[in-house]
Order: sequence, then C-alpha cells, then structure tokens
Amino acid sequence: MTLDKPSVLLTGGAGYIGSHTYVALTEAGYRPVILDDFSNSHPVVLDRLAHLTGQRVLCERGDVLQTGMVAEVLKRYHCVAAVHFAGLKAVGESVQQPLRYYHTNVSGLLSLLQAMDSVDCRSVVFSSSATVYGDPASVPIKENFPCAPESPYARTKLACEDMLNSLAASNPAWRIGILRYFNPVGAHASGLIGEDPHGVPNNLMPYVTQVAVGMRDKLRVFGSDYPTPDGTGVRDYLHVTDLSEGHVAALRALIAKNQSFTVNLGTGEGISVLGVLSAFGRASGRPVPFEFVPRRAGDVAQYFADVSQAQALLGWRATRTIEDMCRDSWHWQQKNPDGYRTSMSSMQPASSHRNQEPAMPLQPTVAGTA
Ligand code: WQD
Repeated sequence: MTLDKPSVLLTGGAGYIGSHTYVALTEAGYRPVILDDFSNSHPVVLDRLAHLTGQRVLCERGDVLQTGMVAEVLKRYHCVAAVHFAGLKAVGESVQQPLRYYHTNVSGLLSLLQAMDSVDCRSVVFSSSATVYGDPASVPIKENFPCAPESPYARTKLACEDMLNSLAASNPAWRIGILRYFNPVGAHASGLIGEDPHGVPNNLMPYVTQVAVGMRDKLRVFGSDYPTPDGTGVRDYLHVTDLSEGHVAALRALIAKNQSFTVNLGTGEGISVLGVLSAFGRASGRPVPFEFVPRRAGDVAQYFADVSQAQALLGWRATRTIEDMCRDSWHWQQKNPDGYRTSMSSMQPASSHRNQEPAMPLQPTVAGTA
C-alpha cells in the first residue's frame, strides 16, 4: 500500500455521495479507504471507481458499528482522517422506524468516534443535512439559524452534531467538520456512478429521470399553491460533484488550519420544481409529463442556503448549474436504466487497467486489498 498519500477512511464510501467523494479525494492526492456493508449500495461501484481512478480500490466490507474492526482498519491503513457517510436518510421511513434510525445514525457515529479515539485518529468530516433547520423563518438559511428538526431522521443528524460539538469542546485534539447538505443531485460526468434509489424514488431528480426514460408515466408535482414565484416548492439543488469537492476542501481545512467548523453546502440559489423541469427539458431534450397533486406532508415552501461560511472557511463554492445537474442525471439514467443492477457492457473489466488489480471480489467477510 502506498504510504505517500494520506489515507482517509470513507464509511459508506460505496454509496451515492461517498463514491463521488472517493473520486474527488483520489484526484486531490488522498488515498481513500472504503468501509461499507453494502446494505444500501452495490459492489459494482468498486469496479466503476477502479475504472474512473485507474487505481486499486481499497475497500473493507463491514458495519461501522463493529468498533474493534473499524479501529483495526484505521490502524492498518494509517488513516489520518475519516469522512462519515454511513447512515440511513429516508425522512418518511424514519417516522416509521425511529429506533432503527437512532441506532444506525447515532450509535454508528459513536462507534466510529470511539474507534478513531482508540487509535489517535482525530479528524472527522460528518455528513449532516439542512433538514436540521426544520421549517426556516426566512431564507437564505445561515448556520446560526435555530435548529428545529421535524423528522426522526433530521433529529438523528442534530444529535450527531451535538455529540461532535461536545467532543470538540472536551478535547482540542479533535478537528471536526460538519457539512449540512442541501439537495444533492446529479452524477459523475462519465455516467459511471450516480444515484441508485431502490424502488420508487422519494426525491425529485431520480423520479424525473425515470419519467424521461419511460420507466414512469408522469411526475406528480407536490403542491402548486406554495408562497413561491410559481407556487411549487423551492430547493437548493447541488451537483454531487460540487458536493464531493466540498469534502476535499473540508478535509484540507481541518488538517491545514486545525480548526473545527459547521458549514452549509449548497449553491445559495433556490430553484422551483417547475424550474427544475424546464432545466431538465433544455438539458435532455425530453419534456417531462407532470400533474399537480396536493402538497406532500412535511414539505416546506422554500429552502436554500447562505453559503458565505463555506466560501470563507473552506474556500469552496459550487460551480455547476442546474442544467449541468440535469444533464449529468439524465446521462447516468440513460447508461444505467436499472442503476447498478445493469452491467456496463461498454466498460472494460477493471482488471484491464495497467497495474490494476481487479476490484476486490466481495466475500462474506472480505479483507481489504492492501
Ligand atoms: C424536492 C422538491 C418536493 C418528488 C429530501 C430529504 C432531505 C434531504 C434532501 C437528506 C420538493 C418536490 C419531489 C416528487 C415533487 N436528504 N417533489 N414530486 O424533500 O427537499 O429533501 O432530500 O438529507 O432529508 O427530505 O427533496 O427531492 O424529495 O423534493 O414535486 O415526486 O421536489 O415537494 O419541493 P427534499 P425532494
């Protein structure tokens, strides 16, 4: 294993945001190490990542709740930091299964931090969510706005933030970056990695692309009577590649400036559902049939970020437009009609790369490829 590049553990690194961050970290000169139990991701991602980076993928199959195993992995790869993606994130599901969400999201982070502490690895980037704000009194939303989470999912994210802030206050050796994501959408420009929802998508963009490709007949627009310019919900959509670059900037800030922070990651611009649909039509050439239906319970009218902190503290800002997001989402959907369950016949096997070991074959208790 090359020790010249700083290794960073990515829990949930085979997931949507994790896999894109894997690429961004590799391109930035880090050596990411994936820890994933593949309960909500697909091993095919490893082949795609090997193809995209031209490097062996370091991956350990396991659950972040196995504290001893996590400590062993941190030690084996000499990790200098961890980025914690592993967790459950479906708002509606969290209402039905709150204990599962607290166990996976809160106990999972606790286990990671205990493992890190035991091997003196004390720099962590945490994947939080703008849903910790609840229904904001005004927009754009600043980091010092009150937090009033309205779902068990959002409450687990705030509980994790509280845990991290308590840890930072107890021991200055800890460097903690809390990233509050707004609405991540899109896919890597190659179309090789992207969002792979199971079943009927809850979120707007994957539903739109499934309508455009003919998998679904039309989009139901939840509400046309919001107090917004065109009556439909307004959100801050962020290209997943911009988001992954935000993680690189956060790691650099933690390690270089030895400071902890909480920042919003968004574009700072609100776009309505109808605005997304017209951007998608322009980017894909495909009109998206839709109908207005009543509002979805729990939705708020407007939600977009004040991003000045991320710019000031991380030197990061989003650069990709809503058209870029729609174009890349559409490209991913076209190349992967059934997500990762569709084999990529046009892609050479990972082992065809020079010095390229095949991506780690997943066995029941697989060891990493060192
Ligand atoms: C966006 C807009 C809908 C689907 C969710 C999670 C949140 C975060 C980001 C993790 C809204 C409208 C949607 C559809 C529609 N994830 N819509 N028809 O609700 O802002 O946030 O994803 O942190 O936790 O709640 O995103 O994509 O579901 O909705 O009209 O079929 O699209 O009403 O205005 P949301 P979304």
